[in-house]
Amino acid sequence: MQRIPEAELMEDPAQALAYARADFDEPHNRFVELFVDCFGPRLTGSVVDLGCGPGDICRRFARRFPECSIHGIDASEAMLELARSADVAAGLANRIRYFRSRLPDADLPQIRYRTVISNSLLHHLPDPAALWRSIRKIGQPGATVFVMDLLRPQNRDQAQCLVDQYAANEPEILRNDFFNSLLAAYRPLEVEQQLADHGLDQLALETVSDRHFIVFGHL
Ligand SMILES: C[S@@+](CC[C@H](N)C(=O)[O-])C[C@H]1O[C@@H](n2cnc3c(N)ncnc32)[C@H](O)[C@@H]1O
Repeated sequence: MQRIPEAELMEDPAQALAYARADFDEPHNRFVELFVDCFGPRLTGSVVDLGCGPGDICRRFARRFPECSIHGIDASEAMLELARSADVAAGLANRIRYFRSRLPDADLPQIRYRTVISNSLLHHLPDPAALWRSIRKIGQPGATVFVMDLLRPQNRDQAQCLVDQYAANEPEILRNDFFNSLLAAYRPLEVEQQLADHGLDQLALETVSDRHFIVFGHL
């Protein structure tokens, strides 16, 4: 099945709210645990989350790694508003800052970060170079890189099965987004080619579930 791109930004407030309310506990917890498996339990310094959405992973990092400071970047103001109010509710507003910026031309507050993370941004990008170029631009030499994203299934029936299995109780708007995201996702061979094209082939790629892969390593 060919990749079918989906809308890049999630700017519709209803769509952003449905996404923020969805139960991502399992994959987002897995994101943090896989990060620890790859790099160990201690993290210090500056972390940036590219395409942070409503900030759930920023908050998980803030709780799990009390010694780091976190910046979240997203182009959608609707998402960032939800992120800021959830941080206040969680008492984490002093640990995380958000910046509205559309990659790859990010006008970032800090030139280089020690750690660059991103979850579920890549499949939104019409040109995947936006992610890989941004990582090279804002990661300091030797920076830790950790990216997780969806895998494109073999066909639409397989995509529908994954939606039924993992989003059975979610609202229709979210089920549709998940289906479209699966169709827009890249495959490991495509991502390996992207890494090679951007001089990032020192990063490793691993398939970690029936719908996710990770890319990890150091710049
Ligand atoms: C599926 S959401 C993932 C949100 C978050 N990382 C998470 O795992 O919950 C993808 C996010 O990427 C943002 N996005 C898409 N293209 C972007 C770009 N070029 N620059 C910045 N953000 C972008 C969207 O607005 C959306 O909030």
